[in-house]
Amino acid sequence: MSQPHSDALVFFGATGDLAYKKIFPALQAMIKRGTLDVPVIGVAKAGWNLDQLKARAKDSLAQHGGLDAAAWEKLSSLLRYVDGDYSDPGTFVAVRKMLGSAEHPAHYLAIPPLLFEEVVEQLVKSGSAKGARIIVEKPFGHDLASAQELNRILLSAFPESSIFRIDHYLAKGPVHHMVSFRFSNSFLEPLWNRDYIESVQITMAEDFGVQGRGAFYDQTGAIRDVIQNHIFQVMCNLAMECPARRDSESMRDEKVKVLKAIPPIDPKNVIRGQFIGYLDEKGVAPNSKVETFAALELEVKSWRWDGVPFYIRAGKNLPVTCTEVMARLRKPPNTNMTEPDATQNYVRFRISPEMTIAMAVSVALPEGTGREEVELVACRHPQPGEMEAYERVLTDAMAGDATLFARQDYVEEAWRIVDPMLKAATPVYPYAPHTWGPDQVDPKVRPPCGWDDPRAEEPADFRVVAQTA
Ligand code: BG6
Repeated sequence: MSQPHSDALVFFGATGDLAYKKIFPALQAMIKRGTLDVPVIGVAKAGWNLDQLKARAKDSLAQHGGLDAAAWEKLSSLLRYVDGDYSDPGTFVAVRKMLGSAEHPAHYLAIPPLLFEEVVEQLVKSGSAKGARIIVEKPFGHDLASAQELNRILLSAFPESSIFRIDHYLAKGPVHHMVSFRFSNSFLEPLWNRDYIESVQITMAEDFGVQGRGAFYDQTGAIRDVIQNHIFQVMCNLAMECPARRDSESMRDEKVKVLKAIPPIDPKNVIRGQFIGYLDEKGVAPNSKVETFAALELEVKSWRWDGVPFYIRAGKNLPVTCTEVMARLRKPPNTNMTEPDATQNYVRFRISPEMTIAMAVSVALPEGTGREEVELVACRHPQPGEMEAYERVLTDAMAGDATLFARQDYVEEAWRIVDPMLKAATPVYPYAPHTWGPDQVDPKVRPPCGWDDPRAEEPADFRVVAQTA
């Protein structure tokens, strides 16, 4: 069903960190692309006025991607500001007044989930929820019970079709392209199953620490911060069946089916780690047991994937910044044509910082001197002017396209899978910064032929090359 385009954007948390780093740059990009031409009402409790918000927005643009004079002029003319407490009905009366004749505002809650209930209640009372849609930031809940509670709150005021739960990872082109690559190349699909794939690993590595977000991170940890959401989305795109139609519900149905096939993760298949130095970060509890790294194994008990282990690894302060998937194919049968140490073919998808699709094959060296493994690589670096994830998210939400957003059943299934390991107080092992996590990982959570550590950089541009794997 087609949805009306939002005729105003109200964003709560306008003076916050996310607005500064991501939202203002996304709004400017939307103006440059011609997709934003409605009032943008910032709301916060900062004791500010509109000029102060504008100064902050301008500074944000200068710091994050650069200020475009014409786009800024336009954004500045669209910006409005309401200063007030979220518990004060007067704040919401002022918002409604500022909305004027807008009938389909988008309310973007870039605020802690603790405040959702109050804000949603006030939106309803002030008449601002009618005909509106609501966009909410991650983390969506803390565990299954809290996610169910948040869903209850949102669904009490908005139909599911008007709720847009953000996972900005989904809006990254390469994450989306994995699906189209799978289903538009007929050579891959026959191999993409338990008969040919031996194991799959997904690594999300970041070579930096918590970057001043200690207080947030210490309430969250790696599993909640990136595994339950970002990495699961990547996994679903890898594992899902081809949707029957292109619409958002058909896509999201297939993803939920993947999650439904995953049993809760057994805490004995998880190793958690914390980088040395984390406890000195501002906002972190002195004896914190929060993980900044986790490695785990899970199974997808579907017709396609049963028996293929999936390994996931994510962490802060690792040697590189990169998100990569490796699917290893089974070894060829052992015949007198096969080398005893034959390597396994693999398919590698790199999601960031560059988009890469690579296939490793074994080729003969000259004059019968043996074989080597080479990669056939197609790689594309991000180009200037490409849509960033937050621009995509806001553009789609305002247009009412829910494809790249997490549905209620999806988020609850995802929490069901991680809940037991979150609740089991398994040890948190220390690891030295810029290593691949604690020593305890390899003996316990190890893909059949070991972890494949992503390299720091890919070749320069989009082409097919052969390079040593
Ligand atoms: C966020 C996490 O959701 O995603 C961060 O809170 C993480 O901890 C970030 O660094 C990674 O996303 P991106 O787009 O910066 O790679």
